[in-house]
Amino acid sequence: MDFKLNGQTVSFDGDGEMPLLWYLRDLAGMTGTKFGCGAGLCGACTVHVDGMAARSCQTWMEDVAGTEVTTIEGLGDGDTLHALQIAWAENDVPQCGYCQSGQIMQAASLLKDNPNPTDADIDQAMYGNICRCGTYQRIKKAIRDVASGKVKGGQL
Ligand code: FES
Ligand code: FES
Repeated sequence: MDFKLNGQTVSFDGDGEMPLLWYLRDLAGMTGTKFGCGAGLCGACTVHVDGMAARSCQTWMEDVAGTEVTTIEGLGDGDTLHALQIAWAENDVPQCGYCQSGQIMQAASLLKDNPNPTDADIDQAMYGNICRCGTYQRIKKAIRDVASGKVKGGQL
């Protein structure tokens, strides 16, 4: 079966019950997506499937046939970072960094659906993305900076 990975058509003829996360990290070399809990509970493995946030540890290869999968490596456009990536850098959001690609992918999905989220909207959308370093306030500030237009440049 074929699907698109960061804009490129790729083929997969292995086990359809393999988690997408395994494929991304071990076969495609896209190690920006992280393994955390492996059980859909932490959000470290969040990617986009057809533009919507999905936990890649709980998404099976057979379910991505014909879809467009985007990882943190494909969120920007070539040399142009996504506005959230710029806001993350400007706000020094990451601490250890392990959860952050999942956080950014979740936030990008939120802003795609809702460009002007309230704090409650942000809390609800980001609730399932755990950060052991407790960077939640900086994550929220970075999302607000993009939503308010304070961060200029980058693509959405
Ligand atoms: S590794 Fe997928 S949700 Fe934790
Ligand atoms: S920055 Fe360390 S887990 Fe989030």
